[in-house]
Amino acid sequence: MPTQGKTIADFPRLPRHVGIIMDGNGRWAKKHRLAIALGHRSGTENLREIIRHTDDLKIGGLSLYAFSTENWRRSPEEVAALMQLILDFFASEIDELDEKHVRITILGDKAALPQRQRDTLLEAERRTGANTGLRLNIAINYGGRAELVRAARLLAEEVKAGTLDPADIDEESMGRLLYTGDQPDVDLMIRTSGEMRLSNFMLWQCAYAEFVFPTVLWPDFSVAEYDKALMEYARRDRRFGGR
Ligand code: IPE
Ligand code: IPE
Ligand code: MG
Repeated sequence: MPTQGKTIADFPRLPRHVGIIMDGNGRWAKKHRLAIALGHRSGTENLREIIRHTDDLKIGGLSLYAFSTENWRRSPEEVAALMQLILDFFASEIDELDEKHVRITILGDKAALPQRQRDTLLEAERRTGANTGLRLNIAINYGGRAELVRAARLLAEEVKAGTLDPADIDEESMGRLLYTGDQPDVDLMIRTSGEMRLSNFMLWQCAYAEFVFPTVLWPDFSVAEYDKALMEYARRDRRFGGR
C-alpha cells in the first residue's frame, strides 16, 4: 500500500533540485541479520515511491547517489550485487519512468562499467533524452572531484583548439561541462543513516545546498521521512551571503 504523502499545497516552499545520498544499506542488512546484497536490494524497493513523490510535488530534479568511484573498494561480491541491481532497477522501472516523461541522466564515468550496465544506462538516457518531465540523475561510478577534473580537461581542450579564451572561463562555462550541464544547483541534499559527510557527491552543485541528515537507514526511508526533510528545508533561511 503506497504511503500517502503531502501535496504541494502543504509546503510553503519546495526545492527545485534534491540530492539524496542513499546510505545505510549495509547497516540495515546487519540489523536484520541478512546478507549485504539483500540490504542493497531492499534499498531499491522504496525508490519507486520516492521518485513518484518527487514528481508529484513537481520538484524539477532529483539526483541519487547509487555508486561512488570509491565503492569499487568493496568486495567483488558486493560490487557484483550492486551492478546486478542497476540492471534490475532499469528493467523494472524504465517503462513507468518514460511514461511519466522522466528524463534520465547518468552522472559519472560509464566507460569504466561492465558492458551490460553501460548499454543499459546509455539506452535509458537515449530513450528518455527528449522527455520534458522530472530530471532524474543517477550517479553511478561518480565522484565529484573526477567530475571537476573532467570539466577542466574539456575546457583545456577548447583552449587548445583555439575556440576558447582562458579569460572567458567562468562559473557558467565550467558548470555547463559538468554532468548536470545546465540543471540548477542542488537546493536540498539529504543523506540518510546519520552520516554527515558528502563522500565526494556533487561538490560543485552543493555550494549553497541546505543539508538534512535523517538518522533512518536508507531502506527505511519512506515518503513520510522524505516529507519531513522537505518540511525542514522549507523552514531554513537561505541567505546566499546576503543580509
Ligand atoms: C549505501 O549503503 C549504498 C552504497 C554505498 C552503494 P552502504 O552499503 O554504504 O551502507 P552502510 O553505510 O554500510 O550501512
Ligand atoms: C556514499 O556512501 C556513496 C553512496 C551512497 C552511493 P558510502 O557509504 O560509500 O560513503 P562513506 O564510505 O561512508 O563515506
Ligand atoms: Mg555507507
